[in-house]
Amino acid sequence: MSNRTDGRDNQIGRAIVTDDDQLKSYYKELNQFNTGALWTVANDIEPWEPTAHSIPVLWKFEDIRPYVVKASELVSPEKAGRRVVYLKNPKRTEVSAACGWLFSGIQIMKPGEKTSAHKHAASALRFIMEGAGAYTVVDGHKIEFGARDFVITPNGTWHDHGVNDEGKTSIWQDGLDIPLTNALEANYYAVHKDIFQTPKYTTNDSPLIYGSPGLIPANDKWAKPYSPLMRFGWDETYEGLQNYAKASDGCPFDGIIMRYSNPKDGGYIMQTMSASMQMLRPAEHTKAHRHTGNVIYNVAKGSGTSIINGKEFHWKEKDIFCVPSWHWHEHKNSSSSDDACLFSFNDFPVMDKLGFYLEEPYQQNNGHQQVI
Ligand SMILES: [Fe+2]
Ligand SMILES: [Fe+2]
Repeated sequence: MSNRTDGRDNQIGRAIVTDDDQLKSYYKELNQFNTGALWTVANDIEPWEPTAHSIPVLWKFEDIRPYVVKASELVSPEKAGRRVVYLKNPKRTEVSAACGWLFSGIQIMKPGEKTSAHKHAASALRFIMEGAGAYTVVDGHKIEFGARDFVITPNGTWHDHGVNDEGKTSIWQDGLDIPLTNALEANYYAVHKDIFQTPKYTTNDSPLIYGSPGLIPANDKWAKPYSPLMRFGWDETYEGLQNYAKASDGCPFDGIIMRYSNPKDGGYIMQTMSASMQMLRPAEHTKAHRHTGNVIYNVAKGSGTSIINGKEFHWKEKDIFCVPSWHWHEHKNSSSSDDACLFSFNDFPVMDKLGFYLEEPYQQNNGHQQVI
């Protein structure tokens, strides 16, 4: 019956019925007609505050990288499709989620290899961790990318990936909303009739047309519900952070943080997932806050510590960690001479659109959590 371990549930306004024999037999009778009494479950299904099902996890790249490389030796891209070591949140294994309703994995491709073209209802994004000469083809647009670049393949778009013959073995983090799409019973998967797409446009047309800051073509006709800019380069991103830091103190909880955005309207890059790059200045220690939405970080540069619900997670470049919904979190750059940069992606567009986004600052101890 209802879980009353929280003392707050023992009050008028919550379900406080004490079950007796008469009620227990009433519940049994209801059950035979596929019905139940709401007060037996109300306190469980209506928590006092957002309740995460995931736990914070740190995936150290040095632990995982050898297995990612091994995947490229054990299975072929033809047979495996994508050689991905996916990240499991110990509390979300039944939905293959890294955090909340987000999937993430680390993919490897060697020079000359390609994956077959496919599409799915889930949206996808990639943050490149190593390599050169990699590319993706999204609905016929070929887009090349290198280390620390960020690339999107929005929902429903045909996409395949590869590394040019003269490129270097490439490793990237994939982020998808597969668990969300499956939870909403809306996912599908389709294989392209040609195995690989034939690019239909000038290579890199997406960044060439839409990648100049503050400019889009006059009379632009792009009307799709996601960003026409599908690659966000590291050099421009880092320069953007540096410039922003010259003119602003940024955010008390995230330092100098900028969101990858749709150049048409400044909105989210895709309908269900957003992504950001943030810079923690030398020795910067942000204040703690919490909010709804799940966030998965990839350390793009430097090293530091994040404190998540009182627990320290020490990270360095290419490590990945997650902050589940409604968990207190703050970040520290461990270097007093160099900046640290965190790439992150999240499900904020969903929280926003559904009216579920909540946020609050940590009020005690000058905004810093006590480390447990
Ligand atoms: Fe895909
Ligand atoms: Fe946050």
